[in-house]
Amino acid sequence: MTQDELKQKVAQAALHYIKDVSIIGVGTGSTVKHFIDYLADFKGQIEGAVSSSEMSTAHLKKVGIPVLDLNSVGTLDVYVDGADEVTPHKHMIKGGGGALTREKIIGAASKQFVCIVDETKCVDVLGKFPLPVEVIPMARSYVARELVKLGGQPVWRENVITDNHNVILDVHNLDIIDPIKLEQIINNITGVVTVGIFAMRPADVVLVGKGDEVITR
Ligand code: 5RP
Repeated sequence: MTQDELKQKVAQAALHYIKDVSIIGVGTGSTVKHFIDYLADFKGQIEGAVSSSEMSTAHLKKVGIPVLDLNSVGTLDVYVDGADEVTPHKHMIKGGGGALTREKIIGAASKQFVCIVDETKCVDVLGKFPLPVEVIPMARSYVARELVKLGGQPVWRENVITDNHNVILDVHNLDIIDPIKLEQIINNITGVVTVGIFAMRPADVVLVGKGDEVITR
């Protein structure tokens, strides 16, 4: 199977987790894009979805799923999203698509986080994938200097403005041995909106597309 076929297969497997759920949290990315395509079959059965990005919002609307405001729906039962890296502890790096802040908010507001990935995303230690950090624009250089002090090499994702009107630094060469601690440290740098380490609130279930099967972790 190609990587995209694996993404499609795990996206389909995630449908199992939305049975009897009326409002779903929906992430961002090419894996989630397949999930949204499948949601079209649930039109009328689900009340709607809370979306993590303008891109997913547009796609949800296109397939006929109402998009709801998180403020008006309370705690979500299930959130389905992809990841750039995921460990056996279900810690993740996310934000390759730039939607990390809204993704982290929806993850925090959900009872169950279902992470859907193809096998290339599974790692023992986070950090090979450059760590995305969303930053208030005027703090970009200051935050970059602080990230260098932590041993990373931040690279400004030029020409990208997030849905929240901020910028992204992608931090290379970080060895993320203690993801919970590093998540807290980077979150505490003034000017950082969100760091793409998802460890304090890890996934609850990871579905991995591997070979021609889907493994549940
Ligand atoms: C977007 C994300 C995505 O979940 C992550 O980048 C994985 O994307 P894809 O499914 O396209 O591989 O965190 O901000």
